[in-house]
Amino acid sequence: MVGPLFIAGNWKMNLDKEGAIELTDALTNGQGPVKGVDVAVFPPSLWLTLVGDLIRSHDIKLGGQDCHEELEGAHTGDISAKMLKDVGCDYVIVGHSERRTDHFETSETIKKKVLMSIKCNLCPIVCIGETWDERDKGAAISAVSAQLKESIPDELGSEQFIVAYEPVWAIGSGRIPTLNDIEEMHASIKETLLSINHKADKVRILYGGSVKPANAAEIFKVENVGGALVGGASLSAADFGEIISIAGAKN
Ligand code: PGA
Repeated sequence: MVGPLFIAGNWKMNLDKEGAIELTDALTNGQGPVKGVDVAVFPPSLWLTLVGDLIRSHDIKLGGQDCHEELEGAHTGDISAKMLKDVGCDYVIVGHSERRTDHFETSETIKKKVLMSIKCNLCPIVCIGETWDERDKGAAISAVSAQLKESIPDELGSEQFIVAYEPVWAIGSGRIPTLNDIEEMHASIKETLLSINHKADKVRILYGGSVKPANAAEIFKVENVGGALVGGASLSAADFGEIISIAGAKN
């Protein structure tokens, strides 16, 4: 296992300013980090500075939900990796399935975003995952492996990125794969990483998709699961805090 479990809260396009402050306050007042667990939150970009200021003296890191593949330029509405770094981010999520679907992002673009985030000293969390159709056809492993190979640039060091395995059909649905399926996929991701010359033991592989307090303990016991990318449950300080505590209890 690569270091402590990593629990990432992806707020997506949720919470108004007041809500972001309330959630952050709760996380910094007892419902947040515990010893031996790495915690990061990914607020909407408009609230990054605000949340960043509130977590500054706490053991919570900040990340962006996406970045553009270029450093700067004429890209209306986009945000650069450099800007994320400027406002105090250490991480950025790239290739989330909602970006791949809503914004037609290809693995080729994602690869460029990964490179740009490294260039700007951010650690990218590279999301990959199969659709229900692919799982149903028995093609989950090959689909995820292909996505991973296409999204990870050759020139990357093994310590420079995190992988998040998020089955598209499990995101926000309340359904998760069987623990055996999660184990099989994480083992396959390790193999794929080895095949593209990465020290697979140095790469954290998170699971994401309907992680809740009720299923976190069993998911964290699965071999090669290095933490969780949490969406819906990260919007409740009680639920997110409980997931963090469960991760802490595993150590
Ligand atoms: P979820 O989202 O926990 O709401 O399923 C996970 C994600 O999309 O990162």
